[in-house]
Amino acid sequence: MPDISTQIAGIKLETCVFNASGPNDVTLGELETVAKSVSSAITMKSCTLKPRKGNPEPRYHDLPEGSINSMGLPNLGYKEYIRLASILKSKYNKPIVASISGLALEDNIIIFKAFNESKADLIEFNPGSPNTIGKPTMGYDFEYLDRSLNEVTKICKKPVGIKLPPYFDFVHFEEVAKIIKKHKVAYISSINSIGNALVIDPVKEQVAIKPKGGFCGLGGKYIKYTTLANVRKFHELLPNVPIVGCGGIYSGIDVFELVLAGATAVQLGTIFMQEGPSCFKRIQDELRGYMKSKGYKSLGDFRGKLKTLD
Ligand code: DHB
Repeated sequence: MPDISTQIAGIKLETCVFNASGPNDVTLGELETVAKSVSSAITMKSCTLKPRKGNPEPRYHDLPEGSINSMGLPNLGYKEYIRLASILKSKYNKPIVASISGLALEDNIIIFKAFNESKADLIEFNPGSPNTIGKPTMGYDFEYLDRSLNEVTKICKKPVGIKLPPYFDFVHFEEVAKIIKKHKVAYISSINSIGNALVIDPVKEQVAIKPKGGFCGLGGKYIKYTTLANVRKFHELLPNVPIVGCGGIYSGIDVFELVLAGATAVQLGTIFMQEGPSCFKRIQDELRGYMKSKGYKSLGDFRGKLKTLD
């Protein structure tokens, strides 16, 4: 069978498919479900300095081909995720990805320092949530992005990745790539949900979820092509930075396409919400099957080798 193992910043992953930060990863029980599945790593919910209840419900809604959410960072606070990382590591011995989404730079500095003494293997800095009421999407503020990446990469002794929001303009990709080059960024996770979508129920003549008047982050199949474009563009601009593709992956062929575009690994979000933990094995098996049908033995055989028409 083809080998779908990979590595990010020296951390070996048995397969290139694991869970995205966000869905079903807030509590120890949820994280143990990920641990017991064949997800090749355990990614935890983005955490803040203090525990948060998040936005009022309903705040998640399934769509025919995706999902919307405006969770508002419900999490147990960073201290608890340091404790959970230690429990999960000793019980399951899988790579652990911590996600950090402090609401201010000072908070991020405290949290990153604390995670130096944790069992997390990779630390994902997430300046991309579109759902925190009263806060802009920080990944669109390039001055803030530069300043905070500088601070957190200086402090952190572990590999720091960055979860990026989607970009839509080549000038923005270039600006972000320039910032990433300045700092010690171990990997990019691309993309976060597409911010501030709006879903309307035409019968009830109302929005689908409660927070922010219905404005929400969009995920699932609706965003796969934006994910592919973001992964491709960052791979072109930063060929030596591993990219974890995230957004709209439902099948092994979706993973194959992302690796062709340049991804080193992928994270599953909406499909994990909708299908549960069996999605990891199904998608890994589908990827192996598709690679076999093409005669590929490992991801390196085709990673980044997307053909263009010229
Ligand atoms: C939330 C949503 C995101 O897209 C994200 O990156 C972090 C947090 C949330 O609403 O909880």
